[in-house]
Amino acid sequence: AKKMILDCDPGHDDAIAMMLAYGNPEIDLMAVTTVAANQTLTKVTRNALAVATMIGMHDVPIAAGCSRPLIEEIKVAADIHGESGLDGVVLPKPTVELEKIHAVDLIIDLIMNHPAKTITLVPTGALTNIAMAVRKEPKIVERVKEVVLMGGGYHEANASAVAEFNIKFDPEAAKIVFNAGWDVTMVGLDLTHQALATPDIVAAIEGIHTETAKFVVDLLTFFRDMYKKGQNFDAPPVHDPCAVAYVIDPTVMTTKKVPVDIELNGTLTRGMTVVDFRYPIPENCHTSVAVKLNHDKFWRLVEDAIQALG
Ligand code: BDR
Ligand code: CA
Repeated sequence: AKKMILDCDPGHDDAIAMMLAYGNPEIDLMAVTTVAANQTLTKVTRNALAVATMIGMHDVPIAAGCSRPLIEEIKVAADIHGESGLDGVVLPKPTVELEKIHAVDLIIDLIMNHPAKTITLVPTGALTNIAMAVRKEPKIVERVKEVVLMGGGYHEANASAVAEFNIKFDPEAAKIVFNAGWDVTMVGLDLTHQALATPDIVAAIEGIHTETAKFVVDLLTFFRDMYKKGQNFDAPPVHDPCAVAYVIDPTVMTTKKVPVDIELNGTLTRGMTVVDFRYPIPENCHTSVAVKLNHDKFWRLVEDAIQALG
């Protein structure tokens, strides 16, 4: 199985990313760590514990991380995820307990105590915890297998004309993560805007007829309404599980190796992921961007995981 650490901010699509990572047999989920972004750290952490309770995930440590970005003020996404960070669903009272260790230390400990190049980091929120871990223990950079993150976009944006929410939330952290030297695959909005939960997809999930399936349908219904109101999408893009799906099966999308860097200083462009498609691609390029999704393959993975969770 492929070892994964999911660093997230649940969040409707983060919750589904958790389900995909835990429900798919190819993935050995080592930890779920939380970071402030979609909502405050307290709220997203409680949501992670509640989702873990919902899916019976009692054997994966959950640790809370950073409660604000490195430099920016905290600006949560209540317009998309609601006041709780997971509005529109009935959450079970968590019976899964939070680890006492800080997320940054748990990430470092796991990477340093497992064989080199075996753990994939999958951040689906702001990159604060990951950047902090790089600064605290730089050796993790050469020990992780790769970083597959949801964030950014080369043509698409949602938090400004040119920036995506996770990157815009903590641009300095993103700068550190993209320039650390490890392999980074950016599963950005260009890709995730293809992962739409269309009515036929929602119907198929409903047809699974389990408590978890019902929970996902409620998540997607709320998400659909928010995305209709806020961004005029007819079906909501389910971003975060795309990064998990790529780790499970890289053929679920096409990627292109290209330099990516983060704009910090532009008065109009702060938080932009600047992607350089010019020929030739430099030999030492260690960043890739996701381009085209196999929609059917992706949703099959999500449906199978929900089914497997029972
Ligand atoms: C990203 O922002 C968050 O609201 C979602 O959970 C996703 O990680 C999309 O821009
Ligand atoms: Ca997220």
